[in-house]
Amino acid sequence: MDKLLIHGGVPLAGEVRISGAKNAALPIMCAALLSSAPLRLANVPHLRDVTTLLNLLGGMGVAVSLDEKLGLELDAGRLHTPLAPYDLVKTMRASILVLGPLLARCGEARVSLPGGCAIGQRPVDQHIKGLQAMGADISVEHGYIIARAKRLRGARICTDLVTVTGTENLMMAACLAEGVTSIENAAREPEVVDLADCLRAMGARIEGAGSDTITIEGVSALAGAGHRIMPDRIETGTFLAAAAATGGSVVLRNTNARILEAVLDKLRESGASIDAQGDTIALAMEGPPRSVNLRTAPYPGFPTDMQAQFMALDCIARGTAVLTETIFENRFMHALELQRLGADIEITGNAAVVKGVPQLDGATVMATDLRASASLVIAGLVARGETLVERIYHLDRGYECIEEKLSQLGARIKRVH
Ligand code: EPU
Repeated sequence: MDKLLIHGGVPLAGEVRISGAKNAALPIMCAALLSSAPLRLANVPHLRDVTTLLNLLGGMGVAVSLDEKLGLELDAGRLHTPLAPYDLVKTMRASILVLGPLLARCGEARVSLPGGCAIGQRPVDQHIKGLQAMGADISVEHGYIIARAKRLRGARICTDLVTVTGTENLMMAACLAEGVTSIENAAREPEVVDLADCLRAMGARIEGAGSDTITIEGVSALAGAGHRIMPDRIETGTFLAAAAATGGSVVLRNTNARILEAVLDKLRESGASIDAQGDTIALAMEGPPRSVNLRTAPYPGFPTDMQAQFMALDCIARGTAVLTETIFENRFMHALELQRLGADIEITGNAAVVKGVPQLDGATVMATDLRASASLVIAGLVARGETLVERIYHLDRGYECIEEKLSQLGARIKRVH
């Protein structure tokens, strides 16, 4: 299994290009299921999760091709098997995003229940309740969600909590339902807006994406379209946090400061100077980082997907920080590994108290999820001596060419087999 070997202590410097967003690409690829005409996508990141989803869609009969500019074309004209098998779903929870589109287009779907997860329980009850409100008949048999509906009907749905993929699943299903659907307490994440933009290009009638109420007027069919995936705000934030932690100075291109204001505010608070122009964000650290408190929340709050990376930053910052995780109940697994590098962290319930230490020391560490792995890489970039990060298949799920990009910024990092 591949590992990353990092010699810490080099401030990151230089320019890097940000990839398309994983969490926008996955739902948008699933949107291809809604139409019998091809969907052409640009800026799709080359990631393991994207490959997993291509395998899943391929098994259903979706034809996949790459054009000369590495654009992805998905053609669900010959969709034949509305099934998401356990083998693929267990490796990627986002597979649940096929449920709404399959049910709306085929009138039936069999999707494996995702099961447990390293960061929390992560049930999908809100997805199911929303589809039931639209008239679907849903049961769970032998670990599979079995859903049927001749044609979904528009409904007023108010989710019990803010769910990103839940909002996306219901929005996609509602595009082909009969009548009007409103999703209240909807997720406002930029990825939801990017999906709505793509669906509109396919002919869907959607209003309010980006607010907490989304209204969808169903149509009888969607057409083909072309869409460019938005930049990855979490990859952007991860590189910025890495630059801040190492006392570096970087320029990130092909990104967008407006989609990560809460993260940029926290970086400024920690002592970074940030200049955002057009699709570029430049960060320069002015002195050693200061501790920053944070509390994760749905967008536009501070993203849970950036909590682990900020914990790494706080480990070597001046002062004491309190990090409160409100989205997932078990998302501090990285703390124990950071402690192995010499960090001073105490966890009580959903809060982590991080006392900054002057120095981390390299060690062998391993992570249980994607963003936790990113935090260990950041800590390794700062630590004295060698850090070996194991189980980096988590990183390959969500960061395109992470070691190449960090090397481009001067980091001494290499993949070892
Ligand atoms: N929840 C329920 N019932 C549901 C759905 C969600 O109780 O039916 C709970 C979850 O257990 C969690 C909270 O609601 O406690 C929020 O979960 P949400 O549904 O918003 O998460 P998700 O849609 O499964 C997406 C991202 C995650 C990101 C979260 C939160 C994708 C593919 N995944 O997950 O990304 O952490 O939103 O912003 O968009 C990552 O990229 O590393 C990652 C985990």
